Amino acid sequence: MISIRQDCVPGSMVHASLVSLLLFLSGLMRAAEGLVVEVRVPAYKIRGEDAELQCHYMLQDATLYSLKWYKGDSQFYQYIPANRETKTTFEVPGLQVDISKSSVGKVKLVALQLAASGSYRCEVITEAPQFFTQFGEGNMTIVDLPVSAPVLEGAHTAYEAGDLVNINCSSPCSKPAATLEWFVNEHRVTDSVLRRFSPIQEQGGLETAVLGLFFRVTKRHFQSGHLQLKCTARIASIYYQSQETSVRETNFLPQTQAEESRRYPFSFFNSASSLLVPLHFWLLLALVHSYVV
Ligand SMILES: *[C@@H]1O[C@H](CO)[C@@H](O)[C@H](O)[C@H]1NC(C)=O
Ligand SMILES: *[C@@H]1O[C@H](CO)[C@@H](O)[C@H](O)[C@H]1NC(C)=O
Repeated sequence: MISIRQDCVPGSMVHASLVSLLLFLSGLMRAAEGLVVEVRVPAYKIRGEDAELQCHYMLQDATLYSLKWYKGDSQFYQYIPANRETKTTFEVPGLQVDISKSSVGKVKLVALQLAASGSYRCEVITEAPQFFTQFGEGNMTIVDLPVSAPVLEGAHTAYEAGDLVNINCSSPCSKPAATLEWFVNEHRVTDSVLRRFSPIQEQGGLETAVLGLFFRVTKRHFQSGHLQLKCTARIASIYYQSQETSVRETNFLPQTQAEESRRYPFSFFNSASSLLVPLHFWLLLALVHSYVV
């Protein structure tokens, strides 16, 4: 399971936003003086998970009349202290409230569906005679994770300088579509070698992201006879997976062997004297070669 830390808001930030909210309110909204509403909604949740939405308010001298939660324009929860049943829920598609775990300060949503993505608003109204109204807002996106790590398609096992690399990376069936990136030898590639495709629409509103890598191989791409190709898939801060492949340089001669043949141009590989090497040596070499390759 991926650990999720989007609920973690540094205290100083909360303080700063509270201060700026206060300044904003005192400057512009005299009618609602003394009423501050602050909402905490998780930015991302994985489909099927639960979420706790928090609504904190500061009333000062006023008394709470009602606290209501809306998704978009649809109300799904209210807390009214004066009512016999203080807590009430309302049907909204994609939302399921656990009323027993909800209170004035928080509302618990369970088994989140993709349809639960959207904007959430907590509205606080104070008692008569003021009837001050104030609200806070937050967005939540429900994510359906890709069904597998990224998949690479179109890679050959070996390339040589001049060959075209034309490979697709796809991250199957997620919502929203994953953000893909390509790395060649651990360096993120530039846009010029990318082929962008729009996501493939799958069943159930899911999407498959596809990103192509397209370039002509040169000698300098190979490091010790290998070219490393890696694709990463990311969804916000809650999903990260990568897939990589190492392709060979066609007819690559290992460094030591290449140096050897330069240093000893008449080594047995290319000199007539090699013919004098006994036959059983060649058989042995062929055997070792086929075993290694
Ligand atoms: C929520 O999302 C909407 C639409 O993308 C955006 O306009 C709004 O600013 C967001 N609100 C917050 C509190 O992030
Ligand atoms: C890559 O994907 C695109 C869009 O799905 C497709 O048109 C193209 O043929 C694919 N290329 C390879 C190398 O698989």
